[in-house]
Amino acid sequence: MTEQQFIPNLYTKTVETGKITWESPSNIALVKYWGKKNDQIPENPSISFTLTDCKTITTLYYSKKENNDEFSFEVFLDNEKKGDFKPKIETFFKRIEVYLPFLKEYHFKIETTNTFPHSSGIASSASGMSALALCLMSLEKQLIDNMDENYFNKKASFLARLGSGSACRSVEGDLVVWGKHENIEGSSDLFGIKYPYKVHGNFRNYQDTILLVDKGEKQVSSTVGHNLMHNHPFAEERFKQAQQNLSTLMGIIESGDLNSFIEIVESEALTLHAMMMTSMPYFILMKPNTLEIINKIWAFRKETGLHVGFTLDAGANVHMLYPEKEMKPILEFINNELVAYIENAHYIVDKIGLGASQIII
Ligand code: PMV
Repeated sequence: MTEQQFIPNLYTKTVETGKITWESPSNIALVKYWGKKNDQIPENPSISFTLTDCKTITTLYYSKKENNDEFSFEVFLDNEKKGDFKPKIETFFKRIEVYLPFLKEYHFKIETTNTFPHSSGIASSASGMSALALCLMSLEKQLIDNMDENYFNKKASFLARLGSGSACRSVEGDLVVWGKHENIEGSSDLFGIKYPYKVHGNFRNYQDTILLVDKGEKQVSSTVGHNLMHNHPFAEERFKQAQQNLSTLMGIIESGDLNSFIEIVESEALTLHAMMMTSMPYFILMKPNTLEIINKIWAFRKETGLHVGFTLDAGANVHMLYPEKEMKPILEFINNELVAYIENAHYIVDKIGLGASQIII
């Protein structure tokens, strides 16, 4: 599909006012997206687990207005008006206006809330942008005679990508690929797709326990971070490696080989951070406690043979990934040995999920 296919024909219906609510989860990448061209076109394909409980719930109130000259909207987070969210959403609206030409015809009230604490260091842009994109798609669906689910999901993911790259991986579940990969049919740089091949039972209900090492604001914004890959001395090799790692992971997803899974996923996390350490300017986004936890996980894995591995985002928090059937001893290990390294002993027990859903009230 091309961008052109997301430009709608003339709308055949009119809708005056109403409201739409969607909840959309966060996602955690196994092969990382780091480096982009314009408009969130990724330099390499990525694959992620969609989560279940870390999510954003957004209600879009819409009412037709007289004057169609400019965007008109207000944003509330947890019932509090958020003027500082407006520029980001205005930019988003400008980028997607050509694909949703009704945007200037309505006044919108956007009410949003996250299930995870705002200051948890968990980025809300993926869940937030995908929830908003889905609300807008539900409105567009009412303006058109027939829209099939496949087009709806693809376009929602396409729009979400224009808000925040990895947001395009939050529409569906449970494994989502974004970015063109020659062995994955239907994969595209424009939107995320549900991983189209067999997934081994070992990954069913796969767990992600997020240890909140540092709840502060992100030290490096995504925009700055991705830009660090321009003129990065190792960029080209990294982009090739991501293609290769995704190929290898495909075999692992089919065979259920958890040791190899851990090897690829941990290497991807450390490579992401290595890219940041070797860019100019350079950053260390891990904290001493991130390293303490990683070393503890490695020692525990060696001692017990359990299949717990970690991944990282562009920050200090540690995502512990492991199969559901090993949950009990791993949670015990976290409670006995790891809580000392996390802020206020705060961790979030989440797991792989099926994607966003509309809430009909
Ligand atoms: O979607 P962005 O622009 O916030 O970038 C996300 C980048 C990582 O979280 C570090 C990796 C990924 O693939 O999610």
